[in-house]
Amino acid sequence: MIIKSTIDRIMEATDIVEVIGEFVQLKKRGANYVGLSPFANERTPSFTVSPAKGIFKDFSTGKGGSAVTFLMELEKFSYPEALKWLAKKYGIEVEETIDHPENKEEDLRRESLMIVTAFAAKFFHETLLDTDEGKSIGLSYFKERGFSAETIKKFELGYSPDQWEAFTGTAIKDGYQEQFLVESGLSVKRDNGNLYDRYRGRVMFPIHSFTGRVIAFGGRTLKKDKNVPKYVNSPESEIYHKSNVLYGLYFAKKAIREEDNCYLVEGYADVLSVHQAGIENVVASSGTSLTSEQIRLISRFTKNITILYDGDAAGIKASLRGLDMILEEGLNVKVVSFPDGHDPDSYVRSVGTSAFKKHIEESKKDFILYKANLLLKDAGNDPIKKAEIIREIVESIAKIPDSIKASVFIKECSYILQIDERSLLSELNKMRQAKAKKDGQQQQNQNTRYAPQPDEPNFFDEPEVIKEAKDESSQEKEIIRLLLLYGNKMIDWDGIANTYIGPFMIAELGDVTFEHAASKLFVEIYRQEVENGVLADETHFIHHKDKGIVDLTIDLLTTKYTLSENWYEMHRIMIHDETANMKATILGAIFHLKKHKVGKILDNLRTELQKADTEADQEILLNQYIRMKKVEKSISDFLGSVIIK
Ligand code: UTP
Ligand code: MN
Repeated sequence: MIIKSTIDRIMEATDIVEVIGEFVQLKKRGANYVGLSPFANERTPSFTVSPAKGIFKDFSTGKGGSAVTFLMELEKFSYPEALKWLAKKYGIEVEETIDHPENKEEDLRRESLMIVTAFAAKFFHETLLDTDEGKSIGLSYFKERGFSAETIKKFELGYSPDQWEAFTGTAIKDGYQEQFLVESGLSVKRDNGNLYDRYRGRVMFPIHSFTGRVIAFGGRTLKKDKNVPKYVNSPESEIYHKSNVLYGLYFAKKAIREEDNCYLVEGYADVLSVHQAGIENVVASSGTSLTSEQIRLISRFTKNITILYDGDAAGIKASLRGLDMILEEGLNVKVVSFPDGHDPDSYVRSVGTSAFKKHIEESKKDFILYKANLLLKDAGNDPIKKAEIIREIVESIAKIPDSIKASVFIKECSYILQIDERSLLSELNKMRQAKAKKDGQQQQNQNTRYAPQPDEPNFFDEPEVIKEAKDESSQEKEIIRLLLLYGNKMIDWDGIANTYIGPFMIAELGDVTFEHAASKLFVEIYRQEVENGVLADETHFIHHKDKGIVDLTIDLLTTKYTLSENWYEMHRIMIHDETANMKATILGAIFHLKKHKVGKILDNLRTELQKADTEADQEILLNQYIRMKKVEKSISDFLGSVIIK
């Protein structure tokens, strides 16, 4: 367990805008920052960060919380892992109480897997740098390819010894469990149950999650033998989903944001060489064809992708279709190709950084125009082929969500293809209509396509207008909201003074029991703190380790939360500022909740009365009923009097 004082120091150091800014492009809007949700695919930013409150709220998925919650949601970190990540970022030393050895088993499976992969990365890296075999085979290979010591260290490159059990044996000796060695794909199980190393005699490329943890490996053989696969990659596992990982993203994301562009290459070696040349905004899809998850991953940082292709034309054509996906996500795609036989890696090494950059600048083309040119070259003068090409190009253009951008492309393509602009446009419209029909939302599309985006409300406004909400859980939440907002403010009402609102409310609530689980826990914690003489403020709950508490807190702090059954409307008083009459606000909320609880008791008594079969029972119940009715009346009277004042 991480000790309390360490947690406090981490919380103090944490700047939520800075932390979230590593993953989401944030723009300042008033007192807050907004950006595109990293949890959903959206075009209008609904993701909001409040530096003052130290919280974020994602309005498209409803997620919200502190910097810690954010890391837990996005990276699937455990609570301590998120804290450690922050500690590392802010250079805070983490003090922990000693865990029992069996905690290793109790650790979450994902965590265990990541511990194993981190260990493996270290093992391969040290083997590369410190063993004779590693140095003479692996390191000399990397040197020959031009990778600097710095690059090798930064990307944690490694080498796996050419033996059957070098890694597995060491890992087991060090106490790592077979289960996780196998699941991470580092070890393979023989029929007889023994394990052997998946990677043998290969140079190792660890694959990092985009927060920098090793989650998988690619191992390249150094043998020329055609029967040996060139790369062996980690299988899919609980921590590695190929389709939403991009090699190098962790090391590239800062530059991607700064340059507002992401270079996409094919291989590990390309990433390393280009990065080493000082062009750090580069990632690879690692051999798989690009997925929409990967595109979304990039689009968190930039809307501009530049694809750096190998020289061979066959490969290019094969991937053209895949690129339409990028257009669909609303990104701008540019394409750069290299002279035959060159990939970005070999090209940058042969011509050097500045000539490489110059080549990119001079030969980058917009994807659609590039595609049009390429296909056109193929078709020659064949009219049927040409018609097909036009269809294909317009199909791509139809994927662009921004209609202004689309019409610019239509214009340019009409020039390249030597086709009347109007006929391209009519083709485009046909496709759009067909698509809209298919999506079953023709109407909606036509109405919304050109509609301006509505202004986003300021989600962090304090609640102001009060609406009616009668259910119990809203009434309970209303109490929590008031505790959060005003609990540590002094009471300044006639007749009552020298006390804080929080303890006052707790005392007034008496033994009212809360039904809604998170609210119940919240009040219990608050009550405990009051008994300890502490006034728990919102940060206490924002950083609480119970997720229910955090969600509830964020919810209440960020939405224009509707007040419970309210007496303002009953009395036809429109109140826009609840602080204008704090006494009515606080007591009103408490007594409305009480009234509701009493109402429930009355309901129960009525049911029991109907079931009661002896007169004695009936009498007891009836007496209780009358007593409760009186309580109800006095609450109503009280509510009335509070309001009238
Ligand atoms: P390349 O064959 O272009 O590899 O495959 P490379 O990285 O440029 O390697 P060098 O330059 O020959 O050393 C591109 C990418 O496709 C994946 C790898 O991610 C590789 O980086 N790949 C390739 C595999 O996963 N398995 C393979 O057998 C081959
Ligand atoms: Mn290569």
